[in-house]
Amino acid sequence: MAYQRPKGTADILPGESEKWQYVEATARNVFKSYHFSEVRTPMFENFDVFSRSVGDTSDIVTKEMYDFHDKGDRHIVLRPEGTAGVVRAYVENKLYGPEHPKPVKVYYMGPMFRYERPQSGRMREFHQIGVEVFGSEQAAVDVETIAMAMDFLKHCGLQDLKLVINSLGNIASRQAYRQALIDFLEPHFAELSHDSQERLHKNPLRVLDSKDEKDQAIVADAPSILDYLDEESTAHFTAVKQLLGDLDIPYEIDANMVRGLDYYNHTIFEIMSNSKAFGGQYMTVCGGGRYNGLASELGGPETPGFGFAMGVERLLLIMDADKVAMPIDHALDVYLVSIGDAAQRANLKLIQAIRQAGFTAERDYLDRKAKGQFKTANRLNAKVVLTLGDSEVESATAHLKNMATGAEISVPFAQITTDFKAVYETVLAAE
Ligand code: HAM
Repeated sequence: MAYQRPKGTADILPGESEKWQYVEATARNVFKSYHFSEVRTPMFENFDVFSRSVGDTSDIVTKEMYDFHDKGDRHIVLRPEGTAGVVRAYVENKLYGPEHPKPVKVYYMGPMFRYERPQSGRMREFHQIGVEVFGSEQAAVDVETIAMAMDFLKHCGLQDLKLVINSLGNIASRQAYRQALIDFLEPHFAELSHDSQERLHKNPLRVLDSKDEKDQAIVADAPSILDYLDEESTAHFTAVKQLLGDLDIPYEIDANMVRGLDYYNHTIFEIMSNSKAFGGQYMTVCGGGRYNGLASELGGPETPGFGFAMGVERLLLIMDADKVAMPIDHALDVYLVSIGDAAQRANLKLIQAIRQAGFTAERDYLDRKAKGQFKTANRLNAKVVLTLGDSEVESATAHLKNMATGAEISVPFAQITTDFKAVYETVLAAE
């Protein structure tokens, strides 16, 4: 084939796109009940927005960004994630100002871009549904936002989810842990992967997140960050655990979990699924956490933040594998069959009136014979077929057939154009 979509991208075709709309509508509904509003930020940002926030030693920034210099020689990045751009927008638009009641709660959905090796559930263009909360340090924000993610996934019909949490503590705790980790890793320097050797002094926590098996064996015995949390950090994490307990949300603690982005502190979490879609292995559908220093890092006032993002492709893979039934309405209310030129013309006015009355209507545009038109009506699952021939045009009446019962009625054009709702109800009631 001459033209193919770029590796790691997908076409979302009719039949599939309805599922996306269903998931997106479900997210909007659930998020609304938690009082979130939508934010839409650009699909590309200046390079610094991500290197400052996601971290210039992270895999995302060092290996996975689609970045280029535009015609004005600006260093541009196709966004690899949503948080940095939303925080940039929060600061740039001064949403920290007193006219915006705190916390400011926003959600977004859209494409993200990472140059990764494509595989099931891992794309180069993928879609996230994400949320961010600005302006409160309370553990209740962490827990309610996690609860919202779980709520949404349950509304999508997902079961067997595992919530994993950890705390990275505040800056002081991180510093103390960082040193302990360097002290632990230094004797293993020669055995570490090249990436981890590079990161050991720049950002040792990244070593904990290494995909390299040898690295993983070494860090299995590394000191736990939870032993380095100071009083404030411990208090926050304890409150998070207590509130999760109050809501009866089960969770596991993974002290080695650091996540792939550098902006986090205190609570981090992932929601994993071991659906058949991933061969029974755990795959992360949703990840997020607290990022209290990020707004100030991007030039704003010190602002606490918390958020998460989920991968829509992964979510849909699980829903498909778990055979979740989505209430998707493919039905066509009316198909208009017309035979002859006069009928074709009369058809046009009728179909427009039917659509304007709020019904879905389709007709023939390929000069099919009557039989072919009826066949199409059947294939499209039309509930009602309206038929017009020369004699119907002359008498200004149309035939309407209830496709479920086979019952037929004749209705004047005038009634169809003025009150199709009543006509439709009559034909659906006809036995
Ligand atoms: P993340 O863990 O990098 O976090 O991505 C969140 C989710 O996006 C993942 O759990 C996964 O479902 C999906 N995802 C990531 N990369 C891919 C890919 N290549 N193909 C398909 N799906 C993918 C973030 O992006 C943070 N911004 C989350 C956050 C929001 N933290 C605070 N606020």
